[in-house]
Amino acid sequence: MEFARRDGVLELFYDPESDDVTRRQQALYDMVAAHYDGVFSQHVTEHYLDKRADVVEELLPYGGLVLDVGCGTGALADWIQRRGYSVYGVDVSTGMLREALSAGISGAFAGFSTALPFASDTFDLALSVATMHHLETPQRVSATIEEMGRVVKRGGYVVVSDHNPLNPYWPLLMKRVPQDHGDERLVSMSELVGSARGAGLEIVRACRAGFVPDFMPAGVMPAWRWVEGIVESTPVLNILAAHNVLVARRP
Ligand SMILES: C[S@@+](CC[C@H](N)C(=O)[O-])C[C@H]1O[C@@H](n2cnc3c(N)ncnc32)[C@H](O)[C@@H]1O
Repeated sequence: MEFARRDGVLELFYDPESDDVTRRQQALYDMVAAHYDGVFSQHVTEHYLDKRADVVEELLPYGGLVLDVGCGTGALADWIQRRGYSVYGVDVSTGMLREALSAGISGAFAGFSTALPFASDTFDLALSVATMHHLETPQRVSATIEEMGRVVKRGGYVVVSDHNPLNPYWPLLMKRVPQDHGDERLVSMSELVGSARGAGLEIVRACRAGFVPDFMPAGVMPAWRWVEGIVESTPVLNILAAHNVLVARRP
């Protein structure tokens, strides 16, 4: 099998997965790549990068090898790398990956989430953020989680964070941002949990997290973090949090 390199990005597209959905995703993200990191204000972006990196640190307190599936421009991979982890990334969009390479993620490759170009039993943790809702079908979501489970070692973690369909703000926000085109399918927590179980993974936790909207002024952030903590820890109220977060483990 021969692999191409496009704009400096190694394309490791195994499998005949390239159908309409994937081609649309590639075209869309190639187009928005240069502006993607500027869509949300820096303090809001960094708030969520910290929260996600904290989960990695909690699960792998002594470091490890991490894979970011749907890594986009590599902002999270970079954030985690700065905390001392070795991070690889995979994404369908070479445009996004070009940004990731220039952000210093040298292990960023083009590939399908449903056919990850890595050997089984490789990573200590595989994570995916804001990618599941772009996969459009339940089959792709479950195939992606299965692949994440395959490439982590025994005892390794699979972490998925994606838009919570029960949070009423997403449909409004998604109409405004350039990276969403209306073809997205928000994925419920029960679907994420079911897919992880179907892939033979043990559920460590399934929770809802995040409550900082994009328009939050920087000066209000310290007080708002407290509000976010209340929302996350209050049963029923936490149904409204921004993200479904699934942590699963390969037995
Ligand atoms: C909303 S962006 C999220 C990027 C990054 N994880 C973040 O949190 O900023 C969704 C990413 O998923 C990628 N993507 C969509 N479908 C994919 C697939 N089948 N395989 C791999 N990546 C995919 C897109 O190219 C895009 O970079």
